[in-house]
Amino acid sequence: MTQVWDGHKRRIEIQEVGTRDGLQSEAQFVATDDKIALVNALSQCGLPRIEVTAFVSPQAIPALKDAEIVMNEITRQPGLIYGALVPNLVGAQRAIAAHADELNMVMSATETHNLCNLRMTQAQSFSALTAVAACAKDAGVALNVSLSCCFGCPMDGEVREATVMDWCRCFMDTPGVTGISLCDTTGMAYPSQVHALTRAFLSRWPESALTLHFHNTRGMGLANILAAIDAGAYRFDASLGGIGGCPYAPGASGNVCTEEVVHALALMGYDTGIALDALLAAAEQLQILIGHEVPSQLVKAGQRLDLHPRPAGFEDIRMRALGRQASK
Ligand code: COA
Ligand code: ZN
Repeated sequence: MTQVWDGHKRRIEIQEVGTRDGLQSEAQFVATDDKIALVNALSQCGLPRIEVTAFVSPQAIPALKDAEIVMNEITRQPGLIYGALVPNLVGAQRAIAAHADELNMVMSATETHNLCNLRMTQAQSFSALTAVAACAKDAGVALNVSLSCCFGCPMDGEVREATVMDWCRCFMDTPGVTGISLCDTTGMAYPSQVHALTRAFLSRWPESALTLHFHNTRGMGLANILAAIDAGAYRFDASLGGIGGCPYAPGASGNVCTEEVVHALALMGYDTGIALDALLAAAEQLQILIGHEVPSQLVKAGQRLDLHPRPAGFEDIRMRALGRQASK
């Protein structure tokens, strides 16, 4: 895969998925105007792409039943790619009519999760993908495929690397598909596994647009991103505040947190192009919209060099210590 370098810093592309993966499982409905304002705020943060919403069944995901209005009424920043998740042809047609820049068609690496999440067999989903790809190609719209549960399934257990690679081969052979995301839907991925699968994928398709999608369910999200970078990947999904999770995957919880990832990568000399202060302000606002705290450690702790005043009585402590030192 061709890496993009900016001076001495390696460029990492983060797609914000908080308004889709994040909001899809929130109990409190976020008002349509608030969603639009949130996407508009995120559009000011320097993100290269935002997955705005999902054109799925409103019965399946009531939280995103306003997808058309949100997609149509956001204020678009030139150059920023505004995408949407779709599960089938109806969703793709709705997303294209609402002027999505990119479709993200989802299916699972396991039959069980595919049936639970999409009410279709994998064969039915793949047949829908073929129709979606033709439709996207006709419309001149980019099409990413997200393969859920690539690193393990909460119901079926281990997923073989060969199974993932076989599906990826099918996607690569489908005209109209422009990118692939390997998704860790319920935080089952671990760093050495991520490294191996990323290497396997990139050695097979070195020029492809590969995205990695991690959840922090078991605390390995950031470690998995670093392992994937080490293996040559540079595109990742992340969610503002670290919220998110698939409502049809038992035990699912938040995505890797955008501000935590941006903060850590910046310290390590990577360039995401994202303004952390603006992102943190959006994460604070998000807590109000969803009515509870976000998992983000950075919202709680602040940035690494957000310093604290010395404790009361510090001068006395210092003088006493100096006195003891002098009398020795
Ligand atoms: N958007 C809106 N409505 C849709 C739709 C879509 N993408 N796809 C189907 N529908 C409608 C149909 O038109 C039909 O409407 P009707 O009852 O008025 O005739 C109804 O939904 C049922 O259609 P059917 O094809 O039988 O769907 P289903 O009930 O088997 O559900 C999915 C299949 C894929 C639509 C649904 O499971 C879904 O949206 N899943 C997404 C889950 C998700 O987003 N998970 C998290 C992200 S990974
Ligand atoms: Zn996810």
